[in-house]
Amino acid sequence: MSAHIMVFDSGIGGTTVLEHIKQRIPNAQYSYFMDNAFLPYGAQTQQTIINRLCSLIHFIKLNKLNVDLIVIACNTASTSALSAVRKITDIPIVGVVPAIKPAAELTHSNHIALLATPATIASSYTKTLIAQHASNVIVSLYSSVELVNLAEQLFFNDCLDTIKLHAVLEDLNIEKQVDVLILGCTHFPILAKQISEYFENSIQLVDSGVAIASRVSYLLDELGLLAQSISDIKKPLQYYATANVFSDKLAVKLVTLIDPPEFEGR
Ligand code: DGL
Repeated sequence: MSAHIMVFDSGIGGTTVLEHIKQRIPNAQYSYFMDNAFLPYGAQTQQTIINRLCSLIHFIKLNKLNVDLIVIACNTASTSALSAVRKITDIPIVGVVPAIKPAAELTHSNHIALLATPATIASSYTKTLIAQHASNVIVSLYSSVELVNLAEQLFFNDCLDTIKLHAVLEDLNIEKQVDVLILGCTHFPILAKQISEYFENSIQLVDSGVAIASRVSYLLDELGLLAQSISDIKKPLQYYATANVFSDKLAVKLVTLIDPPEFEGR
């Protein structure tokens, strides 16, 4: 039997990771869950994000979705809640965190930048990643919530407010010496072409998509589900959302995340 892989994000950003996984493992059964009622996660507290992910696990159980592997395709959710969520489920979880290590290996100027949501930038997980993998280079940190909204607009409406994008990037004022920019939010690859053009293609952009697809493939192999997930017949992708999506681009099933019973009365 092919594996059921659920890819989760606050919004549409996780589809950038999903695309990499689908390329590698084309015929697994995929579902994509967006908690857009709480978008943007980057402006939420850590406790709220932990609660939402615990409710997601409850949703999977309650609806008997038989998920074999969850990809938290959200740097904000992964850096805030990965360890808490792993404690409450046996389903293997792959988190997506900023590609600090590859960026530190790629830089020639020894100066890299991380562009992520405010919550990811503030998280102790991110600080540890930098200390572990980039202690020999300068790492400048930049956060933006507006870029998440612009990526959502581009995805759903196929149009981008370029003036706004340039204004946001100008305000960030990324230091001139930076030669590698980490897109530390899964929404940002949706804007990669435009971001790259803004910097006249002089900065290398890196994200975690390919590495995540390899990790998923490795874990499915360990579970004995990889071969079938490659060779099986293609299955339709089910999208779930917690708030209405005003676009006919995707057929989305509207659902509610409720607190697991052990949360009641808190
Ligand atoms: N796509 C999410 C991430 O990778 C965050 C977007 C949001 O702020 O909701 O961090």
